[in-house]
Amino acid sequence: MRIKVIGAGSIGCHMAHASRMCGWNVVMSDIDPKALKRAKNEIFPARYGTWFPEIEFVPADGKEDICYDIIIIGTPPESHLEIALKQLKCKPRAMLIEKPLAQPDLKFVDDFLSKIVETNTRCFVGYDHTVSTSCTTLSQMLSSSQPKIVDTIDVEFKESWDGILKAHPWLSGPEASYLGYTSRGGGALCEHSHGLNLWQHFARALGLGRISEVSAQFHMIAEGGMHYDKLASLNLATEKGFYGRCVQDMFSKPTSKFVRIQTRDHGNFTWKCESSKGRDLIIHEDLMTTTLREFPKTRPQDFITELRHIEQCLKNKNVQSPIDVMRGIETMCVISAAVESVKTKKAISVEYPSSLGA
Ligand SMILES: NC(=O)c1ccc[n+]([C@@H]2O[C@H](COP(=O)([O-])OP(=O)(O)OC[C@H]3O[C@@H](n4cnc5c(N)ncnc54)[C@H](O)[C@@H]3O)[C@@H](O)[C@H]2O)c1
Repeated sequence: MRIKVIGAGSIGCHMAHASRMCGWNVVMSDIDPKALKRAKNEIFPARYGTWFPEIEFVPADGKEDICYDIIIIGTPPESHLEIALKQLKCKPRAMLIEKPLAQPDLKFVDDFLSKIVETNTRCFVGYDHTVSTSCTTLSQMLSSSQPKIVDTIDVEFKESWDGILKAHPWLSGPEASYLGYTSRGGGALCEHSHGLNLWQHFARALGLGRISEVSAQFHMIAEGGMHYDKLASLNLATEKGFYGRCVQDMFSKPTSKFVRIQTRDHGNFTWKCESSKGRDLIIHEDLMTTTLREFPKTRPQDFITELRHIEQCLKNKNVQSPIDVMRGIETMCVISAAVESVKTKKAISVEYPSSLGA
């Protein structure tokens, strides 16, 4: 397999490393030559102990005459779809675009949707938690328990951006990246949209329908030229009349990342991300018993699991994927409606493009 990773920053390095761990050939490109040097001399040695000299660098103009099996876009959110539209012309077998797929104004989403329905390229969005071993196990537990009534789903995805900035020591601060700007795909709602995506993932798995209405509140911060939501709190309703909430923030230390599914007949199921260092946890509590299951992992491993999942999807076109691009677009539609809800101080109906299907 030939892989091209566009963007040699934090996630680009994870993806290049994960691709090598899968035994694939990797090239990297970046508009900033300093980023390529940093990947080779700083990020790889610090994170993975060594640089992999077989990784090649290619120019960022995308004009090289080579077809890639998978193109991975690990650039800032506002650039994702413009790059994706260009790269689709090369007809890769798969394309993995990082989260969030776009900016909250959904610029280029319609263009992108109309292009992907015309191609054979299978597209994915990087909501990797949904394909982790722990989340897959929780889905299996839910499907074997078959709860008759689910009362609510509660999600928190709260993490200070100090950790993110620590992984970007070359940045002077959040103002120097998209992180400090909600409109560019930063802020708590977009940056931590893994939370919202997990809410949608488990609502779908439980047959509770798509989110049809969102009522949102943001704690907005305007300072040093930045304008971002440091806290996003979403009340969510689905087309089947199911209710829940999702809260994401950029300041919690230690982090709090969980999904809690409360059922009437099978107690509650909680997934905790990194409940302790290097471990996801599932807790199942009913009136009589509490069961814990631990899932040791590392962050580099998460991305290997994600790429192995994409490999399976390429081998078998019938494999349904929780990270399918259509799911990533659904998350963007709710993000966009949440921003509108904050602007208008009203609950907003979520509109999905008709080509998304039900
Ligand atoms: N799935 C995850 O858990 C996860 C983790 C980290 C980051 N991300 C996502 O990945 C994306 C990038 O985040 P990051 O932390 O790696 O950012 P980063 O700033 O570390 O790296 C982005 C790189 O993209 C390069 N770039 C910008 N525009 C480009 C273009 N047009 N062509 C080529 N290169 C370009 C920049 O020079 C930079 O080196 C964001 O959308 C972020 O949310 C996802």
